[in-house]
Formats: sequence, C-alpha cells, structure tokens
Amino acid sequence: MNIFSNKSQKLLDANKLPHHIAFIIDGNGRWAKKKGLPRTVGHSFGVKAVADTVQNCVNLGIKYMSFYAFSTENWNRPQDEVDAIFELLRDYIKQYVGDYENKNIKVMTSGDITKLPKDIYETIEEAKEKTKHCTDFVLNIALNYGGRDEIIRGINQIIKDGVKDVSKESFKTYLYTKNLPDPDLIVRTSGEFRTSNFMPYQAVYSEWAFPKTYWPDFNNKQLIKILLNFQKRDRRFGAIKKEEKK
Ligand code: IPE
Ligand code: IPE
Ligand code: MG
Repeated sequence: MNIFSNKSQKLLDANKLPHHIAFIIDGNGRWAKKKGLPRTVGHSFGVKAVADTVQNCVNLGIKYMSFYAFSTENWNRPQDEVDAIFELLRDYIKQYVGDYENKNIKVMTSGDITKLPKDIYETIEEAKEKTKHCTDFVLNIALNYGGRDEIIRGINQIIKDGVKDVSKESFKTYLYTKNLPDPDLIVRTSGEFRTSNFMPYQAVYSEWAFPKTYWPDFNNKQLIKILLNFQKRDRRFGAIKKEEKK
C-alpha cells in the first residue's frame, strides 16, 4: 500500500526514505539580488522555506532532519547581515516551538551556540528544553557549526577525559550528532558543488544532491524529485551487489 497522496509522491517507496536528511540552505542572497531586494529579505524567505521543508519531511515520515543555518565562517559577513540572520532565527524559534511541541518534534542544535547573542542562545535553549521529550521527529539546527571545529572539540574533550583508546563508536559520542544516524542524503541548493565544512565526519557515505534552485524557492515538488532520485541509487558502502558475488 502506498501512504502518499499526490501523484509523484505516490511513486516514493516509504521503506526507502532517508532516515536522516540534511540541507545546506544556500542561495538566499542571490535569490534576493535577482529580485533587486536586500540580502536579508532573501534570508527571511529562506526561513519560510525551512519551516515548509520541516513540515514536508514530517509529512513524508522522515525521522531526522538537519539544516545548516550558520557556519563558523559566516561570522566573516557584514555585522548587519549576521544580526539579521540571528533575529530571523529567534523569531522562527519563537513562532514554531509551540507547534513543534504539539507535533512531537524535538529541536536540537549542532555547533557552539554559547557564542550567539545571549537572548538568542536562551530562546534556543528554551526550545530544546520544551521539546526534549518529543520522539516523532528530530530537527537539528547547525548553528555556529563547522565540521573541523566539531572534530577538534571532540579530540580536546577526549584528551581532557583521559581516554587512551578511541574507536569509531566512542568517537561518535564526542560529536554534536551523537544521538543521530549519519545523514543518508545531503541536499545543497543554489548550484554550488561544495560541502563548506558541513559534517565531514558524518558524511563519508552520504548521498548528495545539488539542485540549482536558490533555497527560498525550494519546495515539496523538488524535495520529492530528489527523494525519487535517491531511491534509485545503489548504496554499496564499498561492497558489491549480492548477485555479483560468486
Ligand atoms: C544561505 O544563503 C544562508 C546562510 C549561509 C546563512 P547565502 O546567504 O549564502 O546566499 P548566497 O549564497 O550569498 O546567495
Ligand atoms: C554554507 O553556505 C553555510 C550555510 C548554509 C550555513 P555559505 O554560503 O556560507 O558557503 P560558501 O561560502 O559558499 O562556501
Ligand atoms: Mg551562500
């Protein structure tokens, strides 16, 4: 039986969805520029696309979603743009936290959020606290996140803990994503083909999609198209297909 309603969604196999889908939400600035608008307007429409995409992933039955909202390198942008991004983020969390609680969506973050303005840090901590018991869906927001920072932070903690022997499994517990499966699929919008410091440790076997769309225009139709393509891929993880084994 197919649980999905619209036409292309019907073609999706509910058993082959990514457990964890991640988005590098790129192209807000260019989206605005194309329309002759300030970059911050692009970010504000980008927030709307995030809210819609969360709901679309929930509707599909995906369990884990990450989105890259602010990188450790994004501090190099003009201060007024950085401030505008944080304002939008705070409004987004304030607007949706009640809804997420009702929908059993847990909010978590990756990255050092203590470096964000105090009130924003507190709003995020409150949202995490309010939704910590939620179990239907995990929304991981990567904020002041950098993959290299995450790994180095983990190593320093391991040294502090006096751990002498590290395994892949024990190292994972030192990452922000310790309670998440690795992303099966990472989508970077805007036609850029790079990872920009996003989850280098976790992404070793992720499938990637690079749609040309600027993030504020990303919608359910494109999500379904990417998922249909994902379901056609043969994820071999270095092995070979069963029928090729002699
Ligand atoms: C993504 O859009 C949002 C963040 C990085 C915070 P950009 O702001 O990078 O938009 P472009 O890439 O300049 O178009
Ligand atoms: C990646 O986008 C970071 C986020 C989406 C938060 P950027 O626009 O910052 O990346 P670069 O500069 O094009 O690599
Ligand atoms: Mg960009």
